[in-house]
Formats: sequence, C-alpha cells, structure tokens
Amino acid sequence: MDYMVVYSSKTGNTKKLATEIFRALPGMSKDMQDIEEYRGKDADLFFVGFWVNRGTCEISVIDMLSELHGKKVALFGTCGMGSDDAYYKSIEQKVRVWIPDDCRYLGTFLCQGKMPMQVREKYEISMEDPVQESWRRKMLQNFDEALFHPNDEDLANARRFVEEALKAQGE
Ligand SMILES: Cc1cc2nc3c(=O)[nH]c(=O)nc-3n(C[C@H](O)[C@H](O)[C@H](O)COP(=O)(O)O)c2cc1C
Repeated sequence: MDYMVVYSSKTGNTKKLATEIFRALPGMSKDMQDIEEYRGKDADLFFVGFWVNRGTCEISVIDMLSELHGKKVALFGTCGMGSDDAYYKSIEQKVRVWIPDDCRYLGTFLCQGKMPMQVREKYEISMEDPVQESWRRKMLQNFDEALFHPNDEDLANARRFVEEALKAQGE
C-alpha cells in the first residue's frame, strides 16, 4: 500500500478533509479509515487527521502515531479557531511530538471547522469587564465564521498540501 489516510472526526469536519486528501492521492494503492476502525493496515505514507480537543489531538491519535515506525507521516486537522498562525503552530508542535524519530515528518495542514451550537451559547451573554467583553465578541465572531468551514478554499488548500507532501517525500 502506498498511502493510508486515517482520521479521527467527531462531527464530520476532519472526515471532509480526509475524503478530499484521499481523492487527491494518485493511483489505486491507497485506503482511508476512521481511526476507530483502523487495525494497523500498513502503507509507506500515512496522512493522519485529527480534530483539536483542548489544544491538542485525542488519545487515539497519539496512540496511533506512536506506533508508526519507519514511515512517512503527514498530519492534517480541523479546529474551531480561525487562521491564527501562532495557534496553529502550537497545535502542530503538540501533535507532531508523538511521531517516532524513525519516521519522516512531511508537515501539517490545519483549517477551521464548525463547532456545535452549544459552544455559541457560552459566548452569548455579554460581560461587564470591557476586556472580557471584547474577547467574547471575538469568540462569537469566530464561531459564526467557523460555520462555513471547511469550505471550498480549505479543500483546495488540502489538495495543495497533498501535492507538497508528495513532492517532499521524493526529496
Ligand atoms: C470538546 C471540544 C473541545 C474543543 N477544543 C478546541 C480547542 O481547544 N481549540 C479549537 O480551536 N477548537 C476546539 N474545538 C472545536 C473542534 O476542534 C472543531 O469544531 C473541529 O473542526 C471538530 O472536528 P470534527 O468535526 O472532525 O470532529 C473543540 C470542540 C469540542 C467539541
């Protein structure tokens, strides 16, 4: 098997990216599985997808990454926060540490993903403190923006990420 796409997705955003990445991979020697179904099927290059849970990935993703040896590995994921390079970088750092040293890391692609409506409710009550109020408004704005993600541009960026990862693996 050339390529394996394995993803963890609670509400479907990361699965959407996984499907796009799977489609963009060339040839027939490829497979895609939900991490819950993954039973160690082997490949040369793994695209491992996660949804961000409290600033990092879930334990199932950590377990899976830790068991990959001698593989090429690219990461992708979705999170509620809109493009914030420093935040995305911190997520990448927290997740990539689980890739064993004998693997070759090919990069991470992250984009925003819509959140459950209950999250919006948390930001709907105005606050007295002006600093907190400004933060609340920002969070509300971010929530509403997230409703449209992953969008077509995110999917195009995911396809570009695949191209870059494939180029990097040959270098
Ligand atoms: C319990 C929980 C924790 C979350 N923690 C974060 C977080 O720390 N940072 C963030 O940007 N988004 C966070 N989110 C938002 C999700 O990462 C986001 O909606 C993601 O796209 C969900 O992906 P999925 O549809 O593949 O499950 C959280 C969502 C939930 C439900």
